[in-house]
Amino acid sequence: MKRREFIKNTSIVLSALMFTGCKNNFVFDKGEKKMKIFILTGSPRKNGNSNTLADYFSKGATEAGHNVVRFDSAFKNVHPCSACNKCNMDGKCVYKDDFQFVKENIIDADCVVFATPMYYFGISAQLKAVIDRFYSINGKISTPKKAVLLMTYADTAKIEAEPIILHYKTLLNYLNWEDSGQIIASGVWSMGSINNTEYPKKAYELGKNI
Ligand SMILES: Cc1cc2nc3c(=O)[nH]c(=O)nc-3n(C[C@H](O)[C@H](O)[C@H](O)COP(=O)(O)O)c2cc1C
Repeated sequence: MKRREFIKNTSIVLSALMFTGCKNNFVFDKGEKKMKIFILTGSPRKNGNSNTLADYFSKGATEAGHNVVRFDSAFKNVHPCSACNKCNMDGKCVYKDDFQFVKENIIDADCVVFATPMYYFGISAQLKAVIDRFYSINGKISTPKKAVLLMTYADTAKIEAEPIILHYKTLLNYLNWEDSGQIIASGVWSMGSINNTEYPKKAYELGKNI
């Protein structure tokens, strides 16, 4: 092979290698960054405080390029778990209802967001019914995921928020999920009162930087 031919061939190979390398890096970086985020809300107040936090979080996450899917538990039909154990914690649930949507979207989600009002120091029953149905897919969702808690309550005592935070942390620990942020919004009672606080902005920023 002549010298000129050798240089020409070598530069073609090098360019091809560089292109493939960049391409792979690009895909890798993109894969790292873009997540599927599954939001579960629990309030029956459509424009309520926790739903507003979910809206803002979703806006930030979408703007950051993530794929956001949402399930508003209070407006869906999800039967409470009746402990028949037919699913054996990793199979088919006997109930054919809207939980099917949760099943289809949570298993491959990279991040799960819980948005709930405080009801008697716990999460709302609507959201709890959905979480209890995790039982039927327990084996499939016990894989590393990020998680976020968005919670609203009327009182301002920090101690009153502790049962929900502890529940959330214990659930994450059990499922091998990792906490990626919490917004605990106190002092918000009436619908829309959260709009007079800094919490929506914080939720937006959390979504943007998740
Ligand atoms: C059934 C019920 C129970 C509640 N329990 C509490 C409570 O234990 N502590 C509290 O501070 N606020 C409590 N609240 C007030 C809500 O947590 C508060 O209004 C919250 O911002 C509602 O969120 P949402 O607008 O997303 O539904 C309760 C409200 C309802 C309707």
